[in-house]
Amino acid sequence: MRRPLLLPGRPRRVTGVGGCLRTLSPTVPRPAPRRPDQPHVASTRLARVDAFTAIASKRDERRYADRPIPEDALERILDAGRLSGSSQNKQEWEFVVVSDRDAFAETVYAPHNVRTAAIVIAIICPRAFDVGRAAQNMMLAAWGEGIVSCPNGVADASAAAEQIGGAPAIVLSFGYPERPRDPDSRSAEEWSRRANRKPLDEVSRRV
Ligand SMILES: Cc1cc2nc3c(=O)[nH]c(=O)nc-3n(C[C@H](O)[C@H](O)[C@H](O)COP(=O)(O)O)c2cc1C
Repeated sequence: MRRPLLLPGRPRRVTGVGGCLRTLSPTVPRPAPRRPDQPHVASTRLARVDAFTAIASKRDERRYADRPIPEDALERILDAGRLSGSSQNKQEWEFVVVSDRDAFAETVYAPHNVRTAAIVIAIICPRAFDVGRAAQNMMLAAWGEGIVSCPNGVADASAAAEQIGGAPAIVLSFGYPERPRDPDSRSAEEWSRRANRKPLDEVSRRV
C-alpha cells in the first residue's frame, strides 16, 4: 500500500520504517482559506518523511527471512532507483532483477547474501556516483517498508555479465529480516550514536 501524504487538519497515520502503523501528533493545522488577493498555491498537501531516522537506522543485513517480497514493494524499490538523479540526467543504468539467484550467487564475494535473498537487483551503470545514488535510494525505499538489504561486490564480472547481459557495478540483496528489526525502538540520534562509524569530526571539516 502506498504511504499516504500528510493532509492538513488530519492526524498523520503512516506506515513507519519497519512496517508498523503509527499515528504522529500533533496534527497539522488546517491553513486559513485563501483570500482573493493571495496568490494561488497549487497544492496544500504537505509531505513529511522522517528521512534521517531511515538513514540513521539502516544497517546492511545479510540474514533474510524465507518470505517473498510483494510485487508492489518490488516496483517501489525499482522506482526509487529510477527516480534518482544522475550525471546530466543521463540515466545510463539498468536495474536487473535476477531470478536465478543460485547461479548468480557464485559471481559475488558473499554468495550467501544473494542465494538467500528474496530479491536480487544488479545495477549496470558506467558511473560510480550514479550507481551509489540509485543503490542507496532503492535500499532506503526498501527499509521504509521493513525490507532490509546489503550491497554486494562483484567478484567475477564476466561471469555475471554472461548471466545478465552486462557487468554489474553492484548487486543488491533484499529480504525481510530474519530477526525482527524495529527502527522505532531508538531515536534517530541514538541510532546515529550507536552506528559503527567514525566520528563526525574525523570525517568532516570546515575550511
Ligand atoms: C561498494 C560496497 C560493496 C560492498 N560489498 C559487500 C560484499 O561483497 N559483501 C557484504 O557482505 N557486504 C558488502 N558491503 C556492505 C558493507 O560491508 C557495509 O556497508 C559496511 O560494513 C557497513 O555496514 P552497516 O551499515 O551494517 O554498519 C558492501 C558495501 C559497499 C558500499
